[in-house]
Amino acid sequence: QRLSTIRGPLLAWYDRERRDLPWRRTRDAYAIWLSEVMLQQTQVSTVIPYWERFLARFPTVEALAQAPLEEVLTGWKGLGYYSRARNLHRAAQEVVARFGGRLPSTAEELLTLPGFGRYTAGAVASIAFGEQAPLVDGNVARVLSRLFEVEGLPGDRAREARLWELARALVQGERPGDFNQALMEHGATVCRPESPLCLLCPVRTACGAFKRGRVDELPPAKVR
Ligand code: ADE
Repeated sequence: QRLSTIRGPLLAWYDRERRDLPWRRTRDAYAIWLSEVMLQQTQVSTVIPYWERFLARFPTVEALAQAPLEEVLTGWKGLGYYSRARNLHRAAQEVVARFGGRLPSTAEELLTLPGFGRYTAGAVASIAFGEQAPLVDGNVARVLSRLFEVEGLPGDRAREARLWELARALVQGERPGDFNQALMEHGATVCRPESPLCLLCPVRTACGAFKRGRVDELPPAKVR
């Protein structure tokens, strides 16, 4: 029941406070996939114009699959991490060859495609297809480590396992895609790394770190 004291308020907060981002207006799984790949190493404000341009140039999985790699890389120019574009292109070709041009709808199947890791698979399965699939990115890891006082340094295996387990438990319920985005959005805007806005936090009464004055200690800073 700890979980429901987090789920409900966080979803309600997201409904009130969510940013109006272009990929939140589409239900096209390919467009959502593209946004998640671009957002992995690039910030939102940079991604927006790239996402729009790329989709105008390659509007469907088929169009992307048929385009020469050179053109795809040109469309990616400026975003960096070009392996993302190469994998995207290869994955589009596999989606055409193996799935008739339609992205598979489960995280399990998505994981078999190039460039899909646990994060991307969970994001696309939950946001585009409504699967109750968990995801953990840097923002989610911070939110969950504070809420549940998860100890351990970033990268620690036991910590990662615990975070995915918590994310999986939390996403069971209504609107899994919105819930996952609420977790990420909350980490980006309220449960920030430095000076988090606890007084604006919809789940502070459920937060272990807040209760015990440990918000500044969790997650611990990486040792270098
Ligand atoms: N970061 C990556 N994908 C996101 C999404 N869909 N919502 C909020 N933050 C994100």
